[in-house]
Amino acid sequence: MEATWQINQDVCKRCGKCVDVCPNRILEKGQDGLIAFRQDRLWECFSCGHCMAICPNEAISIPGLDYEKDFSPAVPLLEDAYLNYENLISSRRAIRNFKQKPVPHDVLEKIVAAIQKAPPAFPPIKTELTVVEDPQKMREALPMMIELYERLVKMLKNPIASQFIKRSAGPEKYKVLQTHLKPLLEERMPDLKSGKEDTLTRHAPCMILFHANRNSENYRTDSSIAVAFGLLAAHSLGLGAAAMDIIPPAIEKSKKLRELFQIPDENEVVASMILGYPKHEFSHTINRELKSVHWV
Ligand SMILES: Cc1cc2nc3c(=O)[nH]c(=O)nc-3n(C[C@H](O)[C@H](O)[C@H](O)COP(=O)(O)O)c2cc1C
Repeated sequence: MEATWQINQDVCKRCGKCVDVCPNRILEKGQDGLIAFRQDRLWECFSCGHCMAICPNEAISIPGLDYEKDFSPAVPLLEDAYLNYENLISSRRAIRNFKQKPVPHDVLEKIVAAIQKAPPAFPPIKTELTVVEDPQKMREALPMMIELYERLVKMLKNPIASQFIKRSAGPEKYKVLQTHLKPLLEERMPDLKSGKEDTLTRHAPCMILFHANRNSENYRTDSSIAVAFGLLAAHSLGLGAAAMDIIPPAIEKSKKLRELFQIPDENEVVASMILGYPKHEFSHTINRELKSVHWV
């Protein structure tokens, strides 16, 4: 039998919590006090699972979700949760220097599990990960990235080619390319090519690539949030990590890199993070302020 939206009226206690939490008001309490799905709004259900998760009696079923498989008992917040969180976010830094020590697979799995907890704008999750745990692949990728960026810098210096780049990259990305990437890479290219310096992968032993089907909804924002979860998870596990916006464009544009990392043709690599055991320990945190905070 095909799964459908149902309330098991034998166990439903009519508390109405599901009606309250449904973001799209798909559930309602009728005159008779029974909770029911509004048939005219079922198309709006994006299977966030809030109705099922809030129901203490597991009275609700919706297509594609199963209490046994898709839910676990709620985790109570620890009493000192904010203290731990503040410690975590205050001690995190972007790490670009790594010990050449492999990261165990089970540690990487924990980071993947944390990334999986990042909220998507619209379930199901569109983000796909490629976890590069083989340091050899990182080493293979570097010369390909250098080659690609050498070509890109040449194009950015050419007024006609740079207009094409502007059109395909959009104004925000183009500004980053012209004002940050071009001067930086131009200056660093000799050291990058001679192997003296690695401003791209930072000799990291591991990397996680975040990609998604180009036709899916909201995938870029979803990936950014997922990266944040990954960075904090890595830090909590004693690893160092940094988001690396310099890596995805290279993979996007290089067939060889896409093949190396087995990125599906239909997917856009939108974000990346490098990670490994940090070589240094910071002796200070940094106090930064947002550009502005308005209380209204
Ligand atoms: C979206 C994003 C992209 C980044 N891309 C790069 C990058 O390409 N190369 C790099 O060295 N650092 C990159 N970083 C690291 C930032 O430069 C770093 O987070 C920033 O300097 C603040 O330092 P902190 O993370 O230690 O607080 C990136 C960070 C973010 C959030």
